[in-house]
Amino acid sequence: MKHEIKKGVYWVGAVDWNLRHFHGYTYSTRRGTTYNAYLVVDDKIALVDTVEANFADDLIRHIKEVIDPGKIDYLIANHAEPDHSGGIPRILELAPNATLIYSRKGADSFGKYYPPHDKTTIVKTGDSVSLGHKTLQFIEAPMLHWPDSMFTYIPEDALLLPNDAFGQHLATSYRFADEGPEQLVWDEATAYYANILTPFGPMVIRKIEELQKLGLNIDTIAPSHGLIWRKDPMRIVHQYVSWARGDAGPKVIIAYETMWGATDRLAHAMADGIVSEGLEVKIFHAPETDHTDIISEILGAKGVIFGSSTHNQYMLPHIASLMHEVKGLKFPKKLGAAFGLKGWAGGAVPEIEKDLKEAGFEVAMEGLAALKWQLSDDEWSQGVEFGRTFAQKVKAAL
Ligand code: FEO
Repeated sequence: MKHEIKKGVYWVGAVDWNLRHFHGYTYSTRRGTTYNAYLVVDDKIALVDTVEANFADDLIRHIKEVIDPGKIDYLIANHAEPDHSGGIPRILELAPNATLIYSRKGADSFGKYYPPHDKTTIVKTGDSVSLGHKTLQFIEAPMLHWPDSMFTYIPEDALLLPNDAFGQHLATSYRFADEGPEQLVWDEATAYYANILTPFGPMVIRKIEELQKLGLNIDTIAPSHGLIWRKDPMRIVHQYVSWARGDAGPKVIIAYETMWGATDRLAHAMADGIVSEGLEVKIFHAPETDHTDIISEILGAKGVIFGSSTHNQYMLPHIASLMHEVKGLKFPKKLGAAFGLKGWAGGAVPEIEKDLKEAGFEVAMEGLAALKWQLSDDEWSQGVEFGRTFAQKVKAAL
């Protein structure tokens, strides 16, 4: 079935219903994904991006529903990561005279992934290719989300093809965001930003400012994953700016790992204190919650408290794994704190505090580290008070 998203512009990608992990095992894609490729048919014909290699048959079948793939004149490769470039060898087999186009940084990445192609053109921001009535304009977008990433813009169609930016990992039979369940689309867009783009917030802001200065007229944003933004397309752009700035709500996330249950009880005592200050709180036991979900929740929360029992002088392994991810993501403008019970010797709380600092969090208060073995009623009150004090600091920082 043909999917014409604009006159002469076709979605020719693939839906991966069964993908459950992305970027290795760092991101759980429980709802699959799509690899979006777009065929632009004019006097000349361009294919913008391809698909993951195992889905190249789908790509070629979709192209054949519109034109003979041998007629492709330009293959635009916005980004070398294999989920978008894996179909390049098959397309160049069918269209050996096509010109392969990628960014200046792409010279490194594509050169390593694929053998040299005789007709290759390297482009920079401001370069363009005329297809006849339509023009492909190129905008380098380093770190959204790799150094080689670039956007392709078709001014005649007010259509932005931003590759990985503004996407969602969501397999559906719909092609447009306004056709699908709105909350689900936004939940997946949130997870996508939180788990992939969070470290690149300053670049996100700069790139969006640059797009605004270029004065692009945009009425449709067609990313390389998930659904196409056609209704109010700038909403996702403005949301990206907000996330990149570190805007967050009156919410606290408590993520922890417990050995014999006392650190779990302390988490719940803290939650009581946070709620008493009027803030929303969510509690996650790290071994039993997908870290992709915890990270998605952290994006919208001003405060995060991490906890762990001490085991062999260190924090427990699942919370350590979560802290490792949080250190890499570098969420902006978050307040953090640490807690955890110990047995004979401690170690987890100072270790978490060190990680919080490395992650760029402001450590809002000294961690709750002195409690041992089980939580007495008096100590429960200490936990409530800790939560209350942390919530007050979060409210002051909002
Ligand atoms: Fe950077 Fe969708 O790959």
